[in-house]
Amino acid sequence: MASLLDILSARFHLVTGADPELRPSTKAQFGHYQSNVALRLAAEQGRKPRDVAQELVAKLDVADLCEPLEVAGPGFINIRLLPTVLAQAVTEQLGDTHGGIAQADQPTVVVIDYSAPNVAKQMHVGHLRSTIIGDCFTRVLRATGETVIPQNHIGDWGRQFGMLIEQALEEALDLDQLDLPGAEDLYLRANKHLDADPVFADRARARVVALQSGDDQTRQIWRQLIDISTAGFTRTYARLQVLLTDADIAGESTYNDQLAAICDDLETRGIATMDDGALVVFVPGFDAPAILRNSAGGYGYDVTDVAALKHRVDDLGARRLIYVTDARQHDHFMKLFAVARLAGYLPETVSAEHVGFGMVLGPDGTPFKTREGTAVHLDDLLDEAESLANPEVALAAIKYADLSTQLHKDYVFDPARMTATTGDTGPYLQYAHARVSAILRRAAADGDVIEDADATITVLTEPAEQWLALLLTRFPAAVAEVADHLTPHKLCGYLFELATQLSSFYEQCPVLKSEGEVRHSRLVLCRATQKVLASGLGLLGIAAPDVM
Ligand code: ARG
Repeated sequence: MASLLDILSARFHLVTGADPELRPSTKAQFGHYQSNVALRLAAEQGRKPRDVAQELVAKLDVADLCEPLEVAGPGFINIRLLPTVLAQAVTEQLGDTHGGIAQADQPTVVVIDYSAPNVAKQMHVGHLRSTIIGDCFTRVLRATGETVIPQNHIGDWGRQFGMLIEQALEEALDLDQLDLPGAEDLYLRANKHLDADPVFADRARARVVALQSGDDQTRQIWRQLIDISTAGFTRTYARLQVLLTDADIAGESTYNDQLAAICDDLETRGIATMDDGALVVFVPGFDAPAILRNSAGGYGYDVTDVAALKHRVDDLGARRLIYVTDARQHDHFMKLFAVARLAGYLPETVSAEHVGFGMVLGPDGTPFKTREGTAVHLDDLLDEAESLANPEVALAAIKYADLSTQLHKDYVFDPARMTATTGDTGPYLQYAHARVSAILRRAAADGDVIEDADATITVLTEPAEQWLALLLTRFPAAVAEVADHLTPHKLCGYLFELATQLSSFYEQCPVLKSEGEVRHSRLVLCRATQKVLASGLGLLGIAAPDVM
């Protein structure tokens, strides 16, 4: 479905030969959309912007869509859509299977790497953000018709398994009885032991070798620790109501068998070089190289990511790669992409993006920690929010707080503000949805059921109605923007604006108390708003309750 904005832009394009850069107006007095294309063209042609604007307005053939165009200020063109056009666009969107969201002509594979907690450790706030943000990307890109493959790159390999397994054996621990918090306690005990006892440290090292060489008993305990951990992760995913499943898990160990071959390949082709006994790739612009193999012959985080990336491109067919981690890993991914481009593993036809997010801060503005100074567990955060609101609302509060500020920024975890039903919060949007649902329920009880497929708006005279209709037609563009630029805060901002306008609409335009065509048209507007709110919240991973 072509949006109103697309149609308008195309008409402008016919006359300007350039992208008119139509922008939603910030104030009603400037119309619905504005274009500053005349200013740009005038600069190129060395003419007066207002003259260029007047000339464009005279040539533009948009009388079937807009009120007469206005030239304002230094040469802006103000555009006001006709109420009939808005009314029709809203009803078309309401009848559209995808709610007007443009679908990819050729679906491509998008691989999104997110969540990625580590075995024998509970998820902390960083993993919470990654999980919520990645889940939103998955939902948005699927809504635009792409084939999304989530990849949960859990930390299931590494030297820490030496001490974990050795400690479990020494304590003759019954692993069948162990859960994730128990595994984490084991981790802490093993770590202390390692620091205090050099003999234990030697045994832990030997155990790493046994794990790498595939020793049966060692592998079995390792597997068990993974299963215990993934069971814990799965419980948390259920609590968060995210889409990740066990099938999306492809942990670091998945790539063990490919690491040696990748090192060989890059070394023979002269992309990797030996440096102080380690095999590395120097990347322009970075002081430290990417490490493929350390001087002890071990493989680590960097080369594992090279292998994972290659697999995603070659075997999964990815055309777009997205990684969601905290911002501190930005350099790691920039180096990864550079190495992969040098190696030819990441052709120019495949894009790679790292989305780095900021920290969650405590009330004092420093990184959120427990009183003991350890990282806060995700479950504790949820518990805290749930002490102020019911689980559905608490979850909405947390997710919205996570998605509604620019991702790279830090934000303060303030449960009281986040769970408030007023202000720019998840619960406020839920409340807007519940309120409009209540109106539609009451109308339905009077026999006024709105059928999406053949609803029509015949009256759209009040400014508050028109502005609400305009906002509704802007939904597809808001979704497309998140899909293109991975900026969920833009969708949050859009939904907040919509919910706010819905309140003004209630104040200025009685719905249930009005009659005839006015009442029907307003109910259709309500229904269209309910649908956009539900679908928008759904894309953020937030439930849209009918009652609150
Ligand atoms: N497990 C890592 C951590 O907890 C995150 C992994 C992110 N994904 C990746 N492909 N490196 O920090």
